[in-house]
Amino acid sequence: MQEQQFISKAYTSSVESGRFTWSSPSNIALVKYWGKKEHQIPENPSISFTLDHCKTTTTVYFSKKEDRNDFSFDVFLDGKAQEDFKPKIETFFKRVHAYLPFLNDYHFKIETSNSFPHSSGIASSASGMSALSLCLMSIERALMEQDLATSTSTNIKEKVLTDSYFIQKASFLARLGSGSACRSLEGDLVVWGAHKEIKGSSDLFGVKYPYDVHDNFKNYQDTILLVDKGQKQVSSTVGHNLMHDHPFAQERFKQAPKNVSRLMEVFKTGDLDAFIAIVESEALTLHAMMMTSMPYFILMKPNTLKIINKIWAYRATTNSKVCFTLDAGANVHMLYPEAESDKIIELINNELVAYCQNGHYICDRIGFGARQL
Ligand code: PMV
Repeated sequence: MQEQQFISKAYTSSVESGRFTWSSPSNIALVKYWGKKEHQIPENPSISFTLDHCKTTTTVYFSKKEDRNDFSFDVFLDGKAQEDFKPKIETFFKRVHAYLPFLNDYHFKIETSNSFPHSSGIASSASGMSALSLCLMSIERALMEQDLATSTSTNIKEKVLTDSYFIQKASFLARLGSGSACRSLEGDLVVWGAHKEIKGSSDLFGVKYPYDVHDNFKNYQDTILLVDKGQKQVSSTVGHNLMHDHPFAQERFKQAPKNVSRLMEVFKTGDLDAFIAIVESEALTLHAMMMTSMPYFILMKPNTLKIINKIWAYRATTNSKVCFTLDAGANVHMLYPEAESDKIIELINNELVAYCQNGHYICDRIGFGARQL
């Protein structure tokens, strides 16, 4: 599939105004995306669990405007005007205008809110960009349907957006906003990046993992220990760029698809020990790449390491299959089977909560993707 597939057939912007609301979840990568080519093309395939509770809800109001020269929009977070979100959205609009020609025909009011606290160290770019992309796709669909309703042409079928195209294009757009956002539309496992063993996988958008997954992974839990609620020390744009002249980058880009293949086997067999080994190694590799770039960064905090050691000690003395993964920051995601929930929450409350900023953690689990409200 090529980019051109997502260039819309001509339509008239004949709807005066309206609004659409979508809620879209965050996701947590098991095999990490770190390093990209031009136009947000990933250097390697990645695979993630879609989350359930951590999500962004966005309403986009649109109303026709006269001046078609510029984009015009306002952004509100929890009801408050958010000027500092504007540059990112302006860049996003510029990137996707070729695929959404109506963007300069309307003024947009974008109202957004997150289910998780703004200053939790949890990135809202994945859930935020996917929710916004879905709202924009709903507008495109409404414009096409309006044309369809007034058209006398018999060749009207191709103008209708099918559900699968709708989701694929929304994921394609979300990717142009923030790479990993393209994995936030569906659930419960999403692959982004062409992988020779995964049918339909693409560098351009995320696809739902197309094969059966062992029951061991049903309703898997993700409890996020908030070690550091501050702004990320290294933005992902800077981080991805550090992979360009990185001495170990090429090896890493070869390792990731192999880890995806190994995970495919694990999803088939349900081998939780193999799952733990791949997921923890991926998390530490991501951080190792940042420690060995120039300039170099340590994004873990002392409490991140304390938690990792406690998880390892707990596993060594029990039959637990809990493991950890990390984003490009200090917070720890604890992944574990649902059957262990009570024991893990006990472990957190007894031994780990002391390492969390203000004792905060967020209980989440695998989810099934975005929803229109
Ligand atoms: O989507 P970005 O550009 O913010 O990059 C996200 C990268 C990681 O979260 C560190 C890994 C991943 O695959 O989600």
